[in-house]
Amino acid sequence: MASVQGQGRKGAGWKSTDGDQASPILRQRGKVLQRAGTLRKLPLGLSEEAKADSVARLNQVLVDTIVLRDMYKKHHWQTSGATFYQLHLLFDKHYEEQAELVDALAERIQLLGGVSLGMPHDVAELSKIERPPRDVEEPAVQLSRLLEAHEYILRQSREAARRASELGDEGTNDLLVSEVVRVNEMQVWFVSEHLVDVPLVTADQETAATSVASADVEPKRGEAPTSV
Ligand SMILES: [Fe+2]
Repeated sequence: MASVQGQGRKGAGWKSTDGDQASPILRQRGKVLQRAGTLRKLPLGLSEEAKADSVARLNQVLVDTIVLRDMYKKHHWQTSGATFYQLHLLFDKHYEEQAELVDALAERIQLLGGVSLGMPHDVAELSKIERPPRDVEEPAVQLSRLLEAHEYILRQSREAARRASELGDEGTNDLLVSEVVRVNEMQVWFVSEHLVDVPLVTADQETAATSVASADVEPKRGEAPTSV
């Protein structure tokens, strides 16, 4: 078998055999293909105003959803106390669902011709959700923070959905209503129930005694007992 190495290094058609050609070309930079905040034209049958408005609003919902998604993971790791196991699992489930929303939002922005935001420093700059501390907080505080973030996203999403519909962008309206709003509403329910102050093990004896006493009206002589 003819060896390539046998050919002179300067010979015509000489190919390096030391692996250079198969090595990745690193440290590359080039021109930007599309600036953030701009729209490229795609034949979607939507007005430029509709696409620009939807992209701007979706990017805001996107960065806030990324923050909420990551807050769920932080709390998944850091939660504590008697409800640790339940909250640990619930927070991770909600994290996964929020991660799906992040992907759907980002891809909707791209298909509208916009540029989706994605890097943590951009997200931190643009999100309106209050920044939690690096420290570990109590479960009740974790739950409160999550509910506040959900409520903010729900308000923004409903407003964005209404505006998208007004401008004829029903695809964006559908994504926001059918996915973002529905998932957030469901998660609000599951999180909220953990902040209802009911006894964990023993019934509230005082309230029970009061209600039994008021229902148990002593019948007068000759009267039929009051039905409860
Ligand atoms: Fe985990």
